[in-house]
Amino acid sequence: MQKLLENRQDIELLVNTFYQKVLADERIGYMFSHIQGSHWQKHLEKMYRFWESNIFDLDSYQGNPMLQHIRVC
Ligand code: HEM
Repeated sequence: MQKLLENRQDIELLVNTFYQKVLADERIGYMFSHIQGSHWQKHLEKMYRFWESNIFDLDSYQGNPMLQHIRVC
């Protein structure tokens, strides 16, 4: 059943579920293999902030996704 994103808890569930699928994906999962231990939790927390900033118009993420992706490509 689909559910509207209403709060931070919903964002965390979405991001966690999404990354479980990403890590299991044979085409892109390996691109995240450099992220280990506490770095992984930091990455997830960054992604929560990214999405809550965009969806709820907050200011909790101040990063540069484009630069980060240029680095990993
Ligand atoms: C196949 C597609 C994608 C791949 C393989 C990918 C991969 C990555 C990787 C490897 C990182 C760095 C993680 C780290 O070392 O901490 C990253 C960061 C990030 N990605 Fe992606 N990404 C993809 C698509 C997207 C899309 C579509 C979005 C948003 C619409 C997105 C948003 C971000 C953000 C916000 C960060 C954090 C940037 C920062 O450090 O501030 N990514 N991604």
